[in-house]
Amino acid sequence: MKKVGLVGWRGMVGSVLMQRMQEENDFALIEPVYFSTSAAGGKAPVFGGKEAGTLKDANSIDELKKMDIVITCQGGDYTKEVFPKLRAAGWNGHWIDAASSLRMADDAVIVLDPVNLDVIKNALAKGGKNWIGGNCTVSLMLMGLGGLFKADLVEWVSAMTYQAASGAGAQNMRELLAQMGALHDAVKGDLADPASAILDIDRKVAETMRSSAFPTKNFRNTPLAGSLIPWIDVPVDNGQSKEEWKGGAECNKILGKPAFRSAGSIPIDGLCVRIGAMRCHSQGLTIKLKKDVPLDEVSEIIGTANDWVKVVPNEREITERELTPTAVTGTLTVPVGRLHKLAMGPDYLGAFTVGDQLLWGAAEPLRRMLRILLD
Ligand code: HSE
Repeated sequence: MKKVGLVGWRGMVGSVLMQRMQEENDFALIEPVYFSTSAAGGKAPVFGGKEAGTLKDANSIDELKKMDIVITCQGGDYTKEVFPKLRAAGWNGHWIDAASSLRMADDAVIVLDPVNLDVIKNALAKGGKNWIGGNCTVSLMLMGLGGLFKADLVEWVSAMTYQAASGAGAQNMRELLAQMGALHDAVKGDLADPASAILDIDRKVAETMRSSAFPTKNFRNTPLAGSLIPWIDVPVDNGQSKEEWKGGAECNKILGKPAFRSAGSIPIDGLCVRIGAMRCHSQGLTIKLKKDVPLDEVSEIIGTANDWVKVVPNEREITERELTPTAVTGTLTVPVGRLHKLAMGPDYLGAFTVGDQLLWGAAEPLRRMLRILLD
């Protein structure tokens, strides 16, 4: 049985990973070894009914070297610190990582097997050892639209995103809720009075959001509840944020295309926006098709691409019911809806998709890569 080192299992993505691995009975197939950056020597957790002795030191190259496979959700700083040392020490095992640090490296594959199993298999055959989960927005877009890419129908895509607080971290989810609470507290009395004036309520809400007492530390001093933040991650070139750059760079890499902005790559770009959803990222997409494909064919191609994508008919009631973060949160379903041809012409397709940022956006591709390695 393969020794699988688990690092960062206690954090948000790690916890979702542990939950999914239990649900899918993955622990029955491995010998889990739990690592910790702070509590080495303590008792290891029991997942899938398996005792695992004591926690090992996540910074110990000697302990990590004993693993056949390491899966880490510990974050990019950990990867940057430990991974090069581990490889330099001659470790030849498989490294599965949720962090972005290694994603664009030539010897790393961004794993999203329902979309790029061929790329994964090809790399495995050539001795690939580094398997990195994609950016959440990118993975969710490809889980939704993978069929169109596979059918080679996409000339370019513009993605306008509506990204949940979870993408910024667990503390940001808490802060979003604290902001919601603070806003409600500020106008609770007025809301209870049916005769109160909505513009007075609105003014108090705006004052509260702008006040220095409003809890905004984790969102870089910018209110999110009742508002939005049209910038995610650090600036890069061309006026893009890094989150926007990842859309083009990672999508092309996942699909096995030439590097973004080079000949043969697919232009993918847009604006990434943080909104007050908890853990589902949504995206409004403009897709330039290579040719005019009838809508029913488009729906068929999208809806049959994998087991989790689901086409939501472009009708008001079902869209309100099924194409929202509320409907999708905590599930592996990736609905795609609002499918219609745009006014720009018959080869311009409009679409909207929603996906759980912690499942397909983070944990699920990692555990599936583990299963591929165990096969
Ligand atoms: N960068 C993403 C976000 C999450 O901020 O929403 C991680 O893929």
